[in-house]
Amino acid sequence: MSNQTQTVRDGFSSRLGIIAAAAGSAIGLGNIWKFPYITGENGGAAFILVYLFCIALIGVPVMLSEFVIGRRAQKDAVGSFKTLAPGTPWFFTGWLGITAAFIILSFYGVVAGWTLHYLYLAISGGLQGLSAEQLGAVFGGFISNPWQPIFWQVLFMAATIAVVLGGIKNGIERYSKILMPLLLVILVILAIRSVTLDGAKQGMQFLFSPDFSKLNVEAILAALGHAFFSLSLGMGAMITYGSYIQKKENLGATALQVSIADTAIALIAGLAIFPAVFAFGIEPSAGPGLVFITLPNVFGQMAFGSVFAILFFALLAVAAITSAISILEVVVAYLDDEFSWSRTASTFTVGVAITIVGAILSQGNGSLADLKLPFLLNGELIGMNIFDWFITLSDQLLPIGGLAIALFAGWKMAKKDIADELSSSGLWKIAYLEIYRFTVRIIAPAAIAFVFLSSIFGLA
Ligand code: TRP
Repeated sequence: MSNQTQTVRDGFSSRLGIIAAAAGSAIGLGNIWKFPYITGENGGAAFILVYLFCIALIGVPVMLSEFVIGRRAQKDAVGSFKTLAPGTPWFFTGWLGITAAFIILSFYGVVAGWTLHYLYLAISGGLQGLSAEQLGAVFGGFISNPWQPIFWQVLFMAATIAVVLGGIKNGIERYSKILMPLLLVILVILAIRSVTLDGAKQGMQFLFSPDFSKLNVEAILAALGHAFFSLSLGMGAMITYGSYIQKKENLGATALQVSIADTAIALIAGLAIFPAVFAFGIEPSAGPGLVFITLPNVFGQMAFGSVFAILFFALLAVAAITSAISILEVVVAYLDDEFSWSRTASTFTVGVAITIVGAILSQGNGSLADLKLPFLLNGELIGMNIFDWFITLSDQLLPIGGLAIALFAGWKMAKKDIADELSSSGLWKIAYLEIYRFTVRIIAPAAIAFVFLSSIFGLA
């Protein structure tokens, strides 16, 4: 960006690079850590169906809208709205995104730190030969320790800052390209082992035979919030990345491919985890520790299990980094573009501030576990520790951001500008234009508003 050349905006160099970077942003802890544990908490198959619905109906069109906005404006999350709708309050959407980025990365860094700790445990043999119960105790002891989670979180954030300092082409793109496909291979191997365990069948039922009586509004909000989280939507990350996509690229195809890749990885992660959850008698609703307790059991049942354990946690950490950089990049690009900060100054300042907030949040699982903040869910105020509070807040902020983005693309931008951008000025056929427009004008906003209002006030 500004440190590289004054005239040409830094961007992705190739078609594969864009997909890899956008998929690298989308695929992360959301797919492998969060998706399984919220699926477990919300009863399995029915929740997954709602989630898939949210991805197809709302996620894909909103991703496309973010790409359109960013590439049209050639700006960061705030600047894009200022450029496309000067003198209007639409840029608040960008500010909301900056806020959400800050909040998300602060807890994301903590969980990514957990994966580094587990990588260390896998290397040092600390996970071998433990029962499900013992693994649960290892996890609980670790996250409630005052210092250990902070140590690993700081290490992860330092790595994230280092990559973002490198800029777009040299940093983000290079890492995503090779390592994401490798993660897919490892996950598929894990899924095969998990599905063939004795007692896997109950897990398959949990994943594939829906029980709609388990669905409530909170589950639907969780599905919607997670659709945004998993696809990296609702806070301008894909606006920012969109601004780096070359003009000739097909945005519709890119959005579709990234969404499919992201969803496939989440489902494969589910296949790797749930059969094992039932086979080893773990509670599906065990919460944020689910992956960290379940998969070490699977490794224990595999030939070369300790090698797989090391590879898995290493690649999960990489997946987390390619996501974390996209979150940090939203704030960095904003300061660089709007205030002409240097990339170095903005990356350090923001990175360090987020690390400090995250370190405080990590205490919500331990030394500050008794500090409860109120949250309005389903018409009731419930108390949550600060760590969970931030995660739940992000489930609400992202759909609000997504709502504004859909309305902006649907009602504020001129149809001919949308058509020009989607078709790369006539290069691509865009038979889906009308249906896309109808979705972002009516369907997506109505669905988001309904889920959002009913989950807060308990209307449904
Ligand atoms: N999608 C990432 C994951 O699933 C997390 C993430 C990266 C994100 N960038 C984002 C979430 C922007 C929301 C917004 O792990």
